[in-house]
Amino acid sequence: MKTIIEPFRIKMVEPIKLTTREEREQLIEKAHFNPFLLAAEDVIIDLLTDSGTSAMSAEAWGAMMRGDESYAGARSWYRFRDTVKSIFGFEQVIPTHQGRAAEHILFGVLVQPGMIVPNNTHFDTTRANVEYNGGEALDLPCAEAADLDSDYPFKGNMDTAALEKVVAEHGREKIPLIMLTITNNSGGGQPVSMANIREVSRIAHEAGIPFYIDACRFAENAHFIKRREPGYADKPTIEIARETFSYADGCTMSAKKDAFANIGGFLCTNDAELAHRERNILILTEGFPTYGGLAGRDLDAIAIGLCEILDEHYLDYRLDSTKYVVNHLVDAGIPVIAPAGGHAVYLDAGRFLPHIEALHYPGQALAVELFIEGGIRGVEIGSVMFGLDPHTGDEQASRLELLRLAIPRRVYTQSHMDYVLEAIGLVWERRESIRGIRIVEAPQFLRHFTAKFARL
Ligand code: F0G
Repeated sequence: MKTIIEPFRIKMVEPIKLTTREEREQLIEKAHFNPFLLAAEDVIIDLLTDSGTSAMSAEAWGAMMRGDESYAGARSWYRFRDTVKSIFGFEQVIPTHQGRAAEHILFGVLVQPGMIVPNNTHFDTTRANVEYNGGEALDLPCAEAADLDSDYPFKGNMDTAALEKVVAEHGREKIPLIMLTITNNSGGGQPVSMANIREVSRIAHEAGIPFYIDACRFAENAHFIKRREPGYADKPTIEIARETFSYADGCTMSAKKDAFANIGGFLCTNDAELAHRERNILILTEGFPTYGGLAGRDLDAIAIGLCEILDEHYLDYRLDSTKYVVNHLVDAGIPVIAPAGGHAVYLDAGRFLPHIEALHYPGQALAVELFIEGGIRGVEIGSVMFGLDPHTGDEQASRLELLRLAIPRRVYTQSHMDYVLEAIGLVWERRESIRGIRIVEAPQFLRHFTAKFARL
């Protein structure tokens, strides 16, 4: 059969409130042209993020009822810890309330002012946590990532030649760790190959530098490797995931992505002494080491989600349904990052709205128009998110101007996506009349969340 079906049935539904175009014009103006400031109820299709927005399974809801809420050593903790260990393989597991809390603890312990953290591409919270500790978050995407149309299968890779140069120049005194984000979220949700993971690991270890993986979408990345990298087609995806982590010294993880959970995360390492220092901060900021800012029931939901996410029928559907949207856009000549990544569709706002210069924020303008057209909410990944140097206060154009439409797991059906495609097509038809945006008010760190905008 060629038809892709959602490999689940729907047992519980949430109604969607439908709005008119006139209502949406007013709603987005009242939200200061920032989709983050809209009430979720006023959004028809919410593609702001795939984080914490997944639909949990009957199994996961059932497991939540078994949650053991003991303060220390709860049964839920052991189920969580053992599941994490069985997939990720690290000796030390530290639960946190979400991914950025793991980053905050890790960088707080390892990064000092003047240090450099290389990554294929830092996600915004990762970058902010490095910079908050006085470090430099250095992005080293591979050259193929710059060509948004090339069909290179692993555009999430790191430029390992550039990494070798940085390591030769600065050494382990200035580089406390090297990271790889799988999949590369800010770089278009593109996967990282096992060859690249192995090579980054080699470079790091030869220089005596720890190698960490930002593991948020590890299952999608592993399944891309199965589909695209020679030698992996017959390997179970779970084995590919295990091999991925076998090259690393630790990871940060947001369970809000590839664990189907609504909240949660963890930090792993093989270094017991480091884990000891990390747990000291954990107790101060998150909670006791066997719950780390989570309820017992959350730990149980994550343990189930981590197993379900590696179901290959689910992963086939996940990758194919994202590809379905991207392929329709490519066929319509609409600029989009291709080939499709796993969790999101990235419209290339720079080419969609070439008459709007970077610091008039084409991605933000496109986000506003897509909301007005169809009540669809996406997020700009461009000069609003990355254009401000928090130390100097200078603004410069981001490498890419994108509008990300992230697809919550198991939430929307193909007809929802057909509706999204129709709305994008209608905005495309009237693109020449769309104006740029300016910032009225914004904080210094992570400004995209709360900034207020006006139309030019
Ligand atoms: N790393 C990556 C690659 C991410 O995508 C995220 C979150 C984090 C770390 C932080 O995790 O949200 O649990 O604190 N990404 C979400 C997104 C917010 O919309 O892409 P968190």
